[in-house]
Amino acid sequence: MTAFYATCTLGLEDVLAAELQALGAGEVHARKGGCGFTGDLPLGYAACLWLRTAVRVQQELARGRVRDRDDLYRLTQTVDWRRSITHLQTLAVDAAVRDSFANDTRFPALVVKDAVCDQFRDRGGKRPDVDRERPDLPIKLVLQGEDAILYRDFGGAPLHKRGYREIQHKSPLAEATAAGLLLATDWDRRSPLCDPMCGSATFLIEAAWLATDRAPGLLRTFACERWRDADATAWRNLRDQAERRAAAGLGHLPPLAGNDRHPGAIAIAQQALSAAGLAGRIALTQGDARDFVPGVPPRAVVINPPYGERLDAPTEELVASWRAIGEFLHARARGATAWVLSGNPELTRHLGLRASRRLPVHNGPIECRWLRYEIDDRAAPTPIVPGSV
Ligand SMILES: C[S@@+](CC[C@H](N)C(=O)[O-])C[C@H]1O[C@@H](n2cnc3c(N)ncnc32)[C@H](O)[C@@H]1O
Repeated sequence: MTAFYATCTLGLEDVLAAELQALGAGEVHARKGGCGFTGDLPLGYAACLWLRTAVRVQQELARGRVRDRDDLYRLTQTVDWRRSITHLQTLAVDAAVRDSFANDTRFPALVVKDAVCDQFRDRGGKRPDVDRERPDLPIKLVLQGEDAILYRDFGGAPLHKRGYREIQHKSPLAEATAAGLLLATDWDRRSPLCDPMCGSATFLIEAAWLATDRAPGLLRTFACERWRDADATAWRNLRDQAERRAAAGLGHLPPLAGNDRHPGAIAIAQQALSAAGLAGRIALTQGDARDFVPGVPPRAVVINPPYGERLDAPTEELVASWRAIGEFLHARARGATAWVLSGNPELTRHLGLRASRRLPVHNGPIECRWLRYEIDDRAAPTPIVPGSV
């Protein structure tokens, strides 16, 4: 049994905790920006492959009190780093530091790197190189006051990189955030769902994978697969089982539809759908949201509209986009539940609807609300009530 810490978008900790429980993790406890849990190495692998909301999965290797450089050096040397990599492989150290003996992150990261490399040199001669882009062993130091924890990062590249996206939309929603937001809704994964401002189709792909029981990590590899103590059999079994579940799940894809007014976004979305194994399975149209007619009336609508900066006065263009959402919901989504991500309360008013639930969640640096609206099936537009969002 070993201790892990998985990170996620702020606000989605409870969603991540539920995912971990479902995976069979032990001692799951949500904290700000992540969840601690316990398990064996294969559980760590399963976490990389299956967690939809997690950004990183890290295994705790050492923890201790650190008052100065020497304490940190000694703590780092208590770990046998040669269990993870050989001197022919690479490493990188990333640090998060608050109220510690060091006043920046670079110095303690350097101390850890030196301690690891010295251990290799002292015991065998050669030391591993540093590779900041794609290290075989990504090490994370968290130093808060005098409390230090050293982790090895199972994923390497953050887990929201699912392995299907080559071109980014200019304001994409990170895949792990999109998946966590979907998991926070009450969508039953069988009813029709649409996104009238789908951009690069992040919500649609995550929704399809959720509904078809496809592991979000199936298209990529993870740093831990390259470690010396990697359990190749456990990995093979996990991947085989995930492939079987994905194949069986494809028959359960509900009607999903997307739309965006930007032709470039639709082209990126089409490409992403193909790479994600969903070519021809999700209907995409190009046009203004107010004219969007999904092939099947939606039961669930998810939207990540443009909202500019949180406290900026909304531009006319932004207001028009939010009004278009209101018009679409009233005209084409009666009886559905809509979820809208808003980073600007000034804009939210322009929907002309009153939210029945508001989940505070971050999208990158912006504090947002994931707002739920029940669309009346007799819907006549409700008058806008300032401040009622
Ligand atoms: C924040 S982006 C959505 C990003 C998307 N969630 C993704 O991950 O790629 C907002 C999208 O809304 C689209 N949009 C804005 N106003 C629109 C309107 N009135 N009708 C249709 N699409 C609109 C933009 O073209 C843009 O792609």
